[in-house]
Amino acid sequence: MLFLGFSRTALLAGGVRSSPGFNMFLFLSLAFALLSLGSGQIKQTVFDDYYDSLATTQCLAEPGSLMHGGGVIINPEFTHGTSGWTVFGQGATEVRISHTNNRFMVACDRKRPSDSFSQKVQLEKGMFYAFSTWVQVSRGSETVSVVFRTRDDEFVRGGSVMAEQGCWSLLKGGIAANSSSIADVLFESKNTSTEIWVDNVALQPFSKKQWRNHQEQSIEKVRKSRVNFLITYANKRGLGVGGANVLIKQTKPGFPFGCGMNFHILESADYQNWFASRFRFTTFTNAMKWYSTEKKRGQEDYTVADAMLKFTQGNNISIRGHNVFWDNQKYQPDWVKTLSPDDLRKAAEKRINSVVSRYAGELIAWDVMNENLHFSFFEDNLGENASSMYYSTAYKLDPTPRMFLNEYNTIEYSGDEKASPGNYKKRLQEIFSYPGNEDIPAGIGVQGHFGTGQPNLAYMRSSLDILATTGVPIWLTEVSVDPGVNQAEHLEEILREAYSHPGVEGIIMFAGPMYAGFNNMALADMNFNNTPAGDVVDRLLKEWSSEDLEARADDGGFFSTTLLHGEYEVTVTDPISNSSSTSRFEVTKDSFKIIYHFHI
Ligand SMILES: *[C@@H]1O[C@H](CO)[C@@H](O)[C@H](O)[C@H]1NC(C)=O
Ligand SMILES: *[C@@H]1O[C@H](CO)[C@@H](O)[C@H](O)[C@H]1NC(C)=O
Ligand SMILES: *[C@@H]1O[C@H](CO)[C@@H](O)[C@H](O)[C@H]1NC(C)=O
Ligand SMILES: *[C@@H]1O[C@H](CO)[C@@H](O)[C@H](O)[C@H]1NC(C)=O
Ligand SMILES: *[C@@H]1O[C@H](CO)[C@@H](O)[C@H](O)[C@H]1NC(C)=O
Repeated sequence: MLFLGFSRTALLAGGVRSSPGFNMFLFLSLAFALLSLGSGQIKQTVFDDYYDSLATTQCLAEPGSLMHGGGVIINPEFTHGTSGWTVFGQGATEVRISHTNNRFMVACDRKRPSDSFSQKVQLEKGMFYAFSTWVQVSRGSETVSVVFRTRDDEFVRGGSVMAEQGCWSLLKGGIAANSSSIADVLFESKNTSTEIWVDNVALQPFSKKQWRNHQEQSIEKVRKSRVNFLITYANKRGLGVGGANVLIKQTKPGFPFGCGMNFHILESADYQNWFASRFRFTTFTNAMKWYSTEKKRGQEDYTVADAMLKFTQGNNISIRGHNVFWDNQKYQPDWVKTLSPDDLRKAAEKRINSVVSRYAGELIAWDVMNENLHFSFFEDNLGENASSMYYSTAYKLDPTPRMFLNEYNTIEYSGDEKASPGNYKKRLQEIFSYPGNEDIPAGIGVQGHFGTGQPNLAYMRSSLDILATTGVPIWLTEVSVDPGVNQAEHLEEILREAYSHPGVEGIIMFAGPMYAGFNNMALADMNFNNTPAGDVVDRLLKEWSSEDLEARADDGGFFSTTLLHGEYEVTVTDPISNSSSTSRFEVTKDSFKIIYHFHI
């Protein structure tokens, strides 16, 4: 058995308490130690699957494989020519054969963006449809979308990709069927002078139950790990403490699931209790924004933000900073809107220096340039690299927080091309590959403001898949669902979808009690009683944290279990002498490699 000294130090520093009268040592060793114990094989992690899927998002010489056998699509690989497909609009279509003998479909002589080819599919109300295909354009690079034309002649975009000439790109997306009807699946690209090439088209229906099952399976893999303990007598050369009692308590859940807060928190003990009894993560909805801290030029006022910071720190609540700048002209402080570019540059310089220095070391994240995909106030006035330079400045002033982009409609609405996941990736890469920005810890913030209709979880998942290919942590930063009869149900679906996705590392809702004016998605009424949405949140908070676990080691002193990621305290007791010891440990996605050794 090999014990690694460095690990021991790391864990002891985590705060080990020993009962008087005997010593407890905690060791940690790696996978090969577990193997030498012969106690079960090492589990594969989900991240293997996850990185496999990354490979398929590059532009490939040959189209990638057909998913789900094509699902409900007939002749998905065009092995039977155009059978099952018809010309859509005014263009022409043909099946071509590559030099490797692969058949694919081509839309040519196009006059309108949607001139392409289509196939009729029967959509069933309440089902989610995952879509995927491989696309290429004949020249340059163009956005290609899949569109569902519904019976009432509505064109619903289901996903898009920046397709290139000379290689195949994966177009992923989906649709949630509102009603049972026939729809045409077709393709669209604005630039009609390029041909659209398509191969391996798949549309796979999932019932809500199947979708939920998949989430559950993913949660098992993504949010939990196996943890192994070996409890031995310190003075008996590694003899196991047979039947040792093990009591495991979670001290902190691993997944950040938090809630926005506003200034009302300062004036209400009820709001404070409501918040602090539930959440360990927050974002101040408005208090740090420029329009809040410098209403009049030169008169900075951080009273509210500072007081909120004090409250959160006193309650061990971590803060995402929101935001340094907002790229929408409309949300500048009034006096900023009319500044000359030179004056704006000076004022903005002062702003970023002021707010980032003030909270340096106190925040886990900064939304540096809010809504940069939709708006360009700073770029328009200060040049195309304005945002990239502000990320650089923010990082120099405070290197600790993760620096996020923060955008709406990327996961919640497939029709907004500006904020499509493909465009998001492109902008992220521009900002973080700007000279000097390469080392900045980047974050992908997707706001998640959903409307009243059935959330399109198929599209949401495909968007998260695409964003996750960057390897950059994704947070849902402002989740809300507009009021409607199914608000609570839809909120639950969205939260579960996010929590089950391997690329998502945190969720913040923009919600709260009605007392504080959160009327759009109230979690509690004026008396702090839960709304149905509040019930959903409380149920998930409970489900996503671990209850106390009492168990017994086997005859050899070995014990193994699966735990949600998070921080834990474990007490092991020798059933004969009753001597016990307590220690802390953390469960992460890498924990399956670890075996905790206790000596009592
Ligand atoms: C459309 O595509 C052609 C061929 O790649 C290109 O020359 C042209 O600039 C494109 N038009 C626009 C508006 O992007
Ligand atoms: C669902 O219904 C809404 C409102 O009627 C409509 O705007 C939307 O396009 C529909 N979505 C789909 C996928 O059919
Ligand atoms: C905050 O965390 C510290 C250190 O873990 C702990 O000592 C303290 O009791 C916590 N405070 C609250 C209010 O939970
Ligand atoms: C913006 O940055 C890019 C990448 O460094 C550079 O090529 C370009 O010239 C810059 N633009 C301006 C206006 O400085
Ligand atoms: C250990 O605790 C059990 C239950 O509390 C008790 O019955 C037993 O006598 C104790 N043994 C010793 C050695 O103290």
